[in-house]
Amino acid sequence: MQLVRKAVFPVAGLGTRFLPATKAVPKEMFPVVDRPLIQYALEEARASGIEEFIFVTAPGKEAIEAHFRPDPELEHALAAQGKTEAHEAITAYLPDPHHVHFTLQTEALGLGHAIWCARELVGDEPFAILLPDDLVQSETPCLKQLLDVYEEKGGNVVGVMDVPREETRRYGILETGEDDGRLAEVRGLVEKPDPAQAPSTLSIIGRYVLQPEIFDLLAERRQGAGNEIQLTDAMARMIGGTPFHGLRFAGHRFDCGERLGFLEASVAYALARKDFGESARAMLEGYAKKG
Ligand code: UTP
Repeated sequence: MQLVRKAVFPVAGLGTRFLPATKAVPKEMFPVVDRPLIQYALEEARASGIEEFIFVTAPGKEAIEAHFRPDPELEHALAAQGKTEAHEAITAYLPDPHHVHFTLQTEALGLGHAIWCARELVGDEPFAILLPDDLVQSETPCLKQLLDVYEEKGGNVVGVMDVPREETRRYGILETGEDDGRLAEVRGLVEKPDPAQAPSTLSIIGRYVLQPEIFDLLAERRQGAGNEIQLTDAMARMIGGTPFHGLRFAGHRFDCGERLGFLEASVAYALARKDFGESARAMLEGYAKKG
């Protein structure tokens, strides 16, 4: 079985749900506590064993590239001032520049199209996808959980969770075959179905392990829901030809592409922090008492 060495981070979306904040600042650069979302995603990929990091970005999102570029001037200034913690904060997460790659999606034609833009950087090997606005808090990194399934089953693996039926319109939804309560065989996939038509309430969140054949299907540029080139539609066409599983990962997923989800993530991550979790809790209790 071919190892999964590369991860694609599609970060070229318009982020319309977060306007006006996303007019000049990419939502992937929004901080949860003190790290931007994109850094959590890269760190999850790295902790899962990924070696090459591929970003599909868009004009105007240069801040993402800058975040992963060393900044010798700032490092020097912090070192000169003896600010060792701050120095560590801006260097420790940096991946080796030779293993970070950027490509452009010049028009936001949909997630499927964004992934297709990475085809040459990925090449002919299985790869992972992480959507940075889905933040997953878990003991074992979410992507690592998917990769463990991939090693056992091969083919395609997607991270899934049950959502309230009235929300199926926001997600890619599974039609399941064999299902042991953790791992479900994927028999069908529908993007953003009406609750009445949804084949289940098991929805795909932003973690995938896919075979490179997806690129040939995406090359056809078929439009789906919302007239976008949908990744789900291309994945649906791989069913039957290769093993395909949905994993109910262990962990809590926050939808940071949406205001309440982002706020919840900020609270949860602040409370989990050793350095100021307690003060965050005291502050929140104060608000709760005010009612
Ligand atoms: P979303 O559905 O969250 O879209 O995309 P969005 O544009 O980011 O945000 P809204 O809905 O307008 O508020 C899911 C992921 O796919 C990427 C986004 O950057 C995000 O990581 N994406 C989406 C692209 O890279 N290109 C696209 O054309 C669409």
